[in-house]
Amino acid sequence: MTSSRSTLWLVTGAASGIGAAVTRAVAAAGQPVLALDVDDSAGTHLAAETGAYYQHCDVGNPDDWQLVLERLQVLGAPTHVHLNAGIQVAPPSAPLADYQLEAMVLERYRKMMSVNVDGIVFGLHALLPVLEPGAAIVVTASLAGITPYAVDPLYAMSKHAVVGLVRSLGPTLAEREIRINAICPGGIDTAIIPDAQRTDDAIFMSPEHVAGEVIHLMSVAETGKSWAKVSENKPVFVVRAPGDKS
Ligand code: NAI
Repeated sequence: MTSSRSTLWLVTGAASGIGAAVTRAVAAAGQPVLALDVDDSAGTHLAAETGAYYQHCDVGNPDDWQLVLERLQVLGAPTHVHLNAGIQVAPPSAPLADYQLEAMVLERYRKMMSVNVDGIVFGLHALLPVLEPGAAIVVTASLAGITPYAVDPLYAMSKHAVVGLVRSLGPTLAEREIRINAICPGGIDTAIIPDAQRTDDAIFMSPEHVAGEVIHLMSVAETGKSWAKVSENKPVFVVRAPGDKS
């Protein structure tokens, strides 16, 4: 990464995990970052540590995105957008049985869809009008967006939706010279992992490693692609939709 005064990164779910790692790496490279999250305590600490700007934004709330747009009138248009916030259908402390469809708690299901699906849709709806040619968007989907994930089928559904949106927006945004890609990682050692999956033999990637891949995907020539990231030993690779011959 090179430092540029006209660069602005925008990261959602920035207070923890992958989003925090991207924020730290980008800020350390001297680039401005607008970090968005609902965890204001962690967000303001991150801002103090890194020099990033912090703003409260529930990504599933269109009103919060309007406030982000007001902030961008001062900061300028983002050049790199990382739509990353996400949750599973049950909290990490819940037993794995609670992640199954038959155990669904309506309020938590709606919250998950609000963060994982609305959060991407509302974010793009707010930001696309202000993005300029050359802008890059990376959405954090999941391997669960391109493969089955029996542990949390509803989360998998939400991530498949995100992959479908990214694939479908690619060609239209290319007309504006805006690139959009989805990163689809396997397990990463962050706060979202169910406690019950933290077994002795579980292998997780580090959020810092995956952040490096997110930053890399901001500069690839491809658009509308789903990039699997299965382990730290393998670089990201495109998982093509049937019929995608590009
Ligand atoms: P994390 O739990 O460490 O970070 C998620 C962040 O999103 C937190 O700071 C949280 O406060 C924030 N957040 C939650 N609801 C929000 C909302 N309504 N608006 C704004 N921010 C909100 O988890 P992690 O792993 O860093 O998650 C980032 C993304 O990575 C998520 O989309 C997740 O689904 C995805 N992912 C994670 C994997 C993993 O194994 N950790 C694997 C594949 C994808």
